[in-house]
Amino acid sequence: MLRKKLLKIVPVGVLILMMFTLSSFKNETPPTTFEIGKKDFLLNGKPFQIRCGELHFARVPKPYWRHRLKMMKSLGMNTVCAYLFWNFHERTPGVFKWDGEADIAQFCKIAQEEGLWVILRPGPYTCAEWEMGGLPWWLLKNDGIKLRTKDPIYIDRSNQYLKEVGKVLAPMQVTKGGPIIMVQVENEYGFYADDADYMGLMRKAILDAGFNVPLFACNPPYHLKKGFRKDLFQVVNFGSNPVEAFKALKEVQPEGPLMCGEFYSGWFDTWGTPHNYGKIDQYLQDMEYMLKTGASFSIYMAHGGTTFDFWAGADRPFKPDVSSYDYGAPVSEAGWTTEKFKATRDLISKYLMPGEAPLPVPPSANPITTLRTVKLNKFAPLFKNLPVPITTDDPKTMEYYDQSRGSILYRTTLPAGPECVFKVDEVHDFAWVFLNGKKVTVMDRRKHNYSILIPARDKASTIDILVHAMGRINFGPEVHDRKGLIGPIQFLNKNNSPISVKGWKLFNLSYGDEMLNNLSFETPNPVRLAEPGIWKGEFMIDKIGDTFLDVRKWGKGVVWVNGHCLGRYWNIGPTQTMYIPAPWLKKGANKVLVLDLVGPENPVLQGLSAPILNELNPQKDFTLSKRPDVTFSAKNLIPNAKGEFADNNAMQIVKLTTLGKGRYFCIAALSSFDGTTASIAELDLLNKEGKAISHQSWTIAYVSSEELAKENGSAENAIDGQTFNYWSTDWSVRKMSYPHYLVIDLGKEEEIDAIRFIPKSESKSLGRIKDYQIFVGNELIKSLQ
Ligand code: GLA
Repeated sequence: MLRKKLLKIVPVGVLILMMFTLSSFKNETPPTTFEIGKKDFLLNGKPFQIRCGELHFARVPKPYWRHRLKMMKSLGMNTVCAYLFWNFHERTPGVFKWDGEADIAQFCKIAQEEGLWVILRPGPYTCAEWEMGGLPWWLLKNDGIKLRTKDPIYIDRSNQYLKEVGKVLAPMQVTKGGPIIMVQVENEYGFYADDADYMGLMRKAILDAGFNVPLFACNPPYHLKKGFRKDLFQVVNFGSNPVEAFKALKEVQPEGPLMCGEFYSGWFDTWGTPHNYGKIDQYLQDMEYMLKTGASFSIYMAHGGTTFDFWAGADRPFKPDVSSYDYGAPVSEAGWTTEKFKATRDLISKYLMPGEAPLPVPPSANPITTLRTVKLNKFAPLFKNLPVPITTDDPKTMEYYDQSRGSILYRTTLPAGPECVFKVDEVHDFAWVFLNGKKVTVMDRRKHNYSILIPARDKASTIDILVHAMGRINFGPEVHDRKGLIGPIQFLNKNNSPISVKGWKLFNLSYGDEMLNNLSFETPNPVRLAEPGIWKGEFMIDKIGDTFLDVRKWGKGVVWVNGHCLGRYWNIGPTQTMYIPAPWLKKGANKVLVLDLVGPENPVLQGLSAPILNELNPQKDFTLSKRPDVTFSAKNLIPNAKGEFADNNAMQIVKLTTLGKGRYFCIAALSSFDGTTASIAELDLLNKEGKAISHQSWTIAYVSSEELAKENGSAENAIDGQTFNYWSTDWSVRKMSYPHYLVIDLGKEEEIDAIRFIPKSESKSLGRIKDYQIFVGNELIKSLQ
């Protein structure tokens, strides 16, 4: 009946269309919702435990994105966490790149196709052992800019960047049918400062960019209160001890699901210290606790990949990061499964959500190829391949000349005269000094040797200062890391009177395509291997596959294969190979260029079937000891404080009995609770107002013992601002008896009223210090330099 009536008033075509539309509405699934409930995350209104794996698409070649995302799914992840590195997308101010390797929209699309949700962490600051923590170098062209503050220039540039992020990614939110369920605001801001208004501005910028999914902030347990805002959901970052960390989280956020924003599977590596494998038992125990209790987590890193090109950052006190970002993660640098992968997958399989399908099998590893040894037989000496110089009487840092990275050569003429001193405020990061083409010495930021002797000259002589920059520091206030010579630049007579030097020539060497494609090569002179320059060669391949370039015979530099920059190498290790992904190779001849600043032992390369990530060669370092040559003696010293720490892993504040005054701070570990070693995760020194003194100019002046063979227990870990790694005394080679001493050079005289001591966070901590003494003074250390 009704049909007949309708037919009378509505034409047949329209009716068919109406019926089709009605039926398609009936079948259409309602849009997915994601919310933060009182106890749980809610996906479509149902409790959802986020099992997230951190994976940085910028650290994986694009052709491998799908493979790595399938790996995540098989590992047991239901979500993937993606940092955006601002400097990867806005290399020149105002010019944004979102295609090719920077195509985050495509990455999110593949994640969705593979059944993964996405948590986005766009910065603007990200950290991540990435050059300048993801901030663009060109911000530093503004003298006096204060990064990560309300500085109008910084805010304006951040807003512009986040707006562009919104254009690309707001349409990919779950609210619009995409995979993005949450967006992070800033990154561990509590580590840096305490300005909740600044966090408010960053939050607003993300909202204004069109994001309407839940926004959140992450911090380690000790910094959750700094910069805290109620309008941002809080998650806590840690590598162990979830009970304590979640307790701290509940204090600031009594209601809502618990989530670990960064759960460390391992740790990153820096040049000159052992590779970090991570502790699998502790990791599994803590993950099981979270799985059981319904807490959510994001494994940092689930797959680390490689920091290709010049993108690796540096830690503080100045410790440049290696290019491999293997991280001891469940999925290895080249995308292989590991013991940790299998254990994680097995564990998660036991705790799947009701109705969840079993985890898929991992995709197979990509094929491997090897390369026979090849000799690089062409050489372009750097000093014979210089660009047109800039002339000036007042040399500045690279940024001033629009140079982002690489080396900068400062050249001038020094009048005849007796031995004199060359002095700068700082060198970022290494400077090889040549007099009339002959190497005199090297100035090294690790060692703070910023004052050197220049030999006597019987005639006016050319002085060349070749400064090479590693990646910019990515953590702490040191992100203001301008590169080159930090002035004033002075030549002084022995009586301290200045020698007037003008007419500098500066050569900017950024190792970009234009320079690399126009080098003039010659046949290398075997007696002059130590000259800085770029080597060229070719290797033949008949089977394409991933390979690991063995760089053990080389000094220090950078490698390019077929125009792709593999990253940095350095013979001191721990990394001794460089990952080449198969898509960057071709059948037949492949072109390789190697920049070596100190010269190879033998200019040969070969391709191995497995990486070498843990081979240290401290004896090959061009600066033999990274620390100043000093003597330390604790004899006849009166301690400013002594006592016994509590036997737990919580942070402890100890007030000194007498106010400490001096440039050196020493903590002596007289015993530990288990009698094994002595260890410290982090030390902060507080002034009379109870404020922590900046670590910025701190270095380790002396340590009586440190573990470097079997794990990274270097003393710098106690002052690097991070609580996950730690100083540990030697337990594998020379087990030394108590007391153990750690002495910090504070850079200048300070007043110390109390210390904040953070022990290793594992529940059963080896080497938890029991009896201690503290000394502060100017005379603890005698310099031998
Ligand atoms: C912090 C940062 C991360 C990363 C890790 C160390 O937690 O948030 O970006 O730098 O440290 O790998």
